[in-house]
Amino acid sequence: MITSCRMWVTVLAVGLAAVATSAQAADKLVGNVDAGHAQVASVCAACHGADGNSVDPQYPKLAGQHAAYIEHQLESFQKGRRANSIMSGMAGMLSKQGIADVAAYLSQQKTSPGPADTDQVALGKSIYDDGIAAVGLPSCESCHGPKGLGDSAKLYPVIAGQHAQYVEQVLTGWHNGKAWGDGPHAKLALSVGQKLTVAQIHAIAAYVQGMNAVK
Ligand code: HEC
Ligand code: HEC
Repeated sequence: MITSCRMWVTVLAVGLAAVATSAQAADKLVGNVDAGHAQVASVCAACHGADGNSVDPQYPKLAGQHAAYIEHQLESFQKGRRANSIMSGMAGMLSKQGIADVAAYLSQQKTSPGPADTDQVALGKSIYDDGIAAVGLPSCESCHGPKGLGDSAKLYPVIAGQHAQYVEQVLTGWHNGKAWGDGPHAKLALSVGQKLTVAQIHAIAAYVQGMNAVK
């Protein structure tokens, strides 16, 4: 009797999980790569480059970034969780479908390699691989992966090859307490910035820019 009752509970749980999955799938828009390409070429390319590899290092490279992460950031700009006067205007022009389209296109482009500043690499690499135990900083690798490729399902971004200047800008913002919203996800990143000194941020940014060249 007990056994059959457990079986019934299991069947019910599996059924509910299936319902939840199909509801999420219905919610998710499928990005159109060609429409995304056209939108990037006409608007975003001025700063981020036609293939998402910006030349000016104050603008992040978007090529090869996880589509889910690009969507998440564009929604954060739209909702004002991530404050930036330029990008709140840019994101504000996009519909939900428009966001899915640009994310689909950009995620399929290849990140261009960046050189690392060799003076900074040793310190940067040690923080990336091992964190800083004395201040309770986990390694960057534990979330962004050994090659800096992140984890799409957890919304951990690709950072390998990103411009050092942009990485430094972002980490300095967190260091100074400027979070990208107050959700648990944004707080993870904020606490990373707050545990680093200005000199450590400079070194880790140089290392990240050259990561694609590190074997
Ligand atoms: C006039 C320059 C400019 C244009 C045009 C522009 N952006 Fe941006 N974008 C920026 C800046 C500056 C940032 C960094 C914002 C910050 O520091 O928070 C940024 C950041 C982003 C980010 C966050 C990336 C990350 O790694 O966190 C995404 C995604 C993005 N832009 C997408 C777009 C898309 C899509 C378009 C076209 C619809 C676009 N941008 C047009 C300047 C621009
Ligand atoms: C506990 C997990 C975790 C650790 C450890 C971690 N990060 Fe992150 N990182 C995140 C999350 C989550 C985000 C996205 C934050 C958001 O969307 O609000 C992020 C975003 C970033 C970004 C912004 C990328 C972009 O283009 O938007 C950079 C740069 C970054 N991390 C660098 C680092 C570096 C360098 C380290 C090590 C010193 C590090 N992170 C350690 C979770 C982590």
